Amino acid sequence: MTWYEIFPLVSTSFILISGILVAIGWRLILKQRREAHEKVMIAAAISATIFFIIYVSRTIFIGNTMFNGPDSLKTVYLIFLLFHIVLATVAAVFGITTLLLAFRKNFAKHRKIGRTTAKIWFATVITGVTVYVLLYLCYPGGHTKPVIQAIFG
Ligand code: HEM
Repeated sequence: MTWYEIFPLVSTSFILISGILVAIGWRLILKQRREAHEKVMIAAAISATIFFIIYVSRTIFIGNTMFNGPDSLKTVYLIFLLFHIVLATVAAVFGITTLLLAFRKNFAKHRKIGRTTAKIWFATVITGVTVYVLLYLCYPGGHTKPVIQAIFG
């Protein structure tokens, strides 16, 4: 396995783990297990942050991956990727807001927005894993330059 394959596999695993943790955290609060809910949701946020750090480092030092599938699928793939990026950005904003509401003990609002956050988070995980499958399992290949090399040569 090369770094081109290891980084995305590790970062996608962290997205998947964060989604599973949000599902577990939701179940816990439905059973009134507040302390466990808090711990598991914080672990979900840490897992998503680790994904983001790996993703950004990879973009800077190794480079992104172009879609290597058939031309007929390229536009569909790009629209899907854009949809995933928008979802992930919205999920991050909702995630931070949900956490802040919890830490400020505004639980009524936290509960309301938390339900939306969890659903957007699940959608982000599902579309993220799909992007990984399309890019690395269905049609592998297609590397680009790392940003650092594009800038400094
Ligand atoms: C991004 C992370 C988090 C998400 C996505 C999240 C999600 C949720 C959801 C969906 C509910 C409502 C469950 C339902 O009624 O269907 C909820 C309730 C709750 N959460 Fe979180 N949560 C997060 C982090 C936290 C943290 C860090 C704390 C503690 C500091 C916390 C404390 C609570 C409490 C106490 C409730 C119950 C509120 C009530 O009974 O009115 N949550 N959360």
